[in-house]
Order: sequence, then structure tokens, then C-alpha cells
Amino acid sequence: MAKDRVVAAFRERYGCEPAVVAVAPGRVNLIGEHTDYNGGFVFPAAIDQELWLAASPASQSEFVSLELGAAPMFDMDSVQPGDDLGWAAYPAGVAWAFREAGHRVPNLQAVVGSSVPIGAGVSSSAAIEMAFARVWDRLLGQDLPALDLARLGQRSENGFLGVQSGLMDQMASISGLAGHALLFDTLASTIEPVPLPVDLQIVICDTGVSRKLAADPDVAGDSWYNERRGQCELVASMLAVPNLRMLERARLEQRKGELPEVAYRRARHVLTENERCLEFADALRRGQTERLGPLMRASHESLRDDYEVTGEALDRMVEACWSAPGCVGARMTGAGFGGACVALVERSEVAAFIESASGAFGGGRFVPCEVVDGARVVE
Ligand code: GLA
Repeated sequence: MAKDRVVAAFRERYGCEPAVVAVAPGRVNLIGEHTDYNGGFVFPAAIDQELWLAASPASQSEFVSLELGAAPMFDMDSVQPGDDLGWAAYPAGVAWAFREAGHRVPNLQAVVGSSVPIGAGVSSSAAIEMAFARVWDRLLGQDLPALDLARLGQRSENGFLGVQSGLMDQMASISGLAGHALLFDTLASTIEPVPLPVDLQIVICDTGVSRKLAADPDVAGDSWYNERRGQCELVASMLAVPNLRMLERARLEQRKGELPEVAYRRARHVLTENERCLEFADALRRGQTERLGPLMRASHESLRDDYEVTGEALDRMVEACWSAPGCVGARMTGAGFGGACVALVERSEVAAFIESASGAFGGGRFVPCEVVDGARVVE
């Protein structure tokens, strides 16, 4: 078990027991993509690809990953955005966000071990952020609400790592509920857990193409993501609404002629995706699983044609899924440009589904998942 490996590695390195142990899951988003930074709806679930963290307060910070190795030592009090910390930038950014919010967090010696694949669109970054957030919250004795800890993770992404991401990943990782997907209204900051049918299984269908590598080569790093966000904000400001959630479909169509064509399509994706997300939750509540597939397909097509964040590998993967046995629905999941598709598959057909989809795609990595509880300190 991953927990035992991480605790044993901690003991071996530091010769003592860790003061705190925490676990945080990755997440998969079933529908509602690129809506969270527009005040919209998302529908993620926490999955049993998890990150374990064993830590104790120390005079200097030293973070060791069982997969990525040791990061350079540093002092948490002096970290600043732009520091070259390797993978330790993720926890360091959370410490920075705590500090910005007025909480001085202690340095830690820490060991992490993770089964959350990196660059696959299942948010390994949110998992590491929320594990450290839980540990520091415990050591500070604050007991902050999950929403506040999620916002510290988002603050780190925006202000420390420079990606203008929304709140979905951190909320899914910290608020996950076993057996449920979370309908998260990002404007009201409310979550409604909706049970998933027990006879369906989530399968992550990873293209193996890492997101950064697959992104538009003309745009460095993750800035294509920030560019999409900018296009949404442009439409909101031109049509005088605080965000695209407040924009009605009819009004977008009326004013279409005034908008740059690309920005219009970006906004159309966001508005139609919000509708699909609500319909998806409604179908699940009513047990109408036959409605799920068409909604997932329409979501993928809108991300491909209007938002333009799928790419060749994801399009081929989703088509391989759509024609595989037992597939109830499939679409790309996460930010896009490489990474994974999510498929909902009849449990009894999962093996046949994987064989068919991997054959048609020509490889890929297929991970059947269970839906688990969110990030927590483990006693
Ligand atoms: C990334 C971001 C999220 C969200 C998705 C797209 O995962 O971190 O906030 O915007 O992309 O839905």
C-alpha cells in the first residue's frame, strides 16, 4: 500500500515517525470543461489514483518524491514566485499562498509517493497541493473549511505558478465523496454530490501524449490556457457581464456580429457546456443513463470545434472509445491538448472495452477507477 511505502521511506530517511500523514486523490471531470473560470458548472469526481504525504516540521524544507527524487532544500519563509524549485514549486506555492493569507507555515521534511499520473489530465498538481494544504492546516491548528484550502491551492496556481486556472481541481481533490460525482457551481461556491450508478465504471483513457508537449508549439508553456481565459473575459467585457455565466445564449447570438469570430466560438462553448453539465446531472438523478452518452459526445465536439483544445491524439482516442463495447459515453477530460479521455463503461464490459479501444487507438494506457473521498489527514 502506498501509505506504508511513504511512511517507511520517511522513517528510513529521518529516523523517526512523521508528525502528520495525509492522502489526496487526483480527479476526473465527467463534464463541464473550461467553465470553472467563467462562473460555470463542473462535474468532477475524486479517483483512487492518490498521493500520500508523510511530514514533520523542520528547520529547512526538504521534499522527497518517491517518483521524482529529492527537490533542493529551501526556507519556506523566503520562497517567491519564480524561484527554481522543480516539482517542489507545487507545495512551495501553497505555503506562499498561506503566507499571503496571513498564516506563517512551518518548514517541513516531507516524503510523497503518488500513483496520480503526471500530464494525463487527472490533476496530479491539485493532489499534491491539497495534501500539503491539509498537513499545514493541521500543524497550524486552523481547521480551515475545504473551500478555503482549495482557494489557497488556486491562489498558488494563479499567483505562484502563473496558470490562471479555476477552482475545480482543488475542490474535487479536497471535497471528493466516495461513489459520487460533485456538481460544483463555481459562482455560488456550492457542491451537490450526485451518486454514480454502481453498474458503471469510470475508465481513464490516457493518450500518453503529455499536455505540455501537445500544446500549440507557437504558444509557450501553458499560456494557451491563459489565452482561452482571456478570450472568454473579452466577450464578457464586450457584452457587459461580470462573467460568461451571466450571459444568456440569446444575447450572445444577438451580439455575435460585434465579436471576433474566435471569441464568439469560445463563449458559445462555455454557454452550451454549462447547459450540458446541468442536463448530465439531471439525467443521473433520474437514472436516465441513455442521456449521458450524447451529452459527453456533444461536449467533446464543442471542445474540439469551438474551444479548440482537443488535438489529434484526444480525437482519435475518443473515437476509439465511442465504438468500443460497453461504452456509455466518452470525452476528453481536463485542460486538453493531450492527456486523457474519460469513459463511462458498463462494469461487466470493462475488459472488452479496454481491449477494443486500445486496439483501435494503437496503444494508450487505460485505468479503471473507483470514486473515493477527498484529501484528508490520516490518523
Ligand atoms: C485545468 C484547470 C481547471 C479547469 C480545467 C478545464 O484542469 O486547472 O481549473 O479550468 O483545466 O476545465
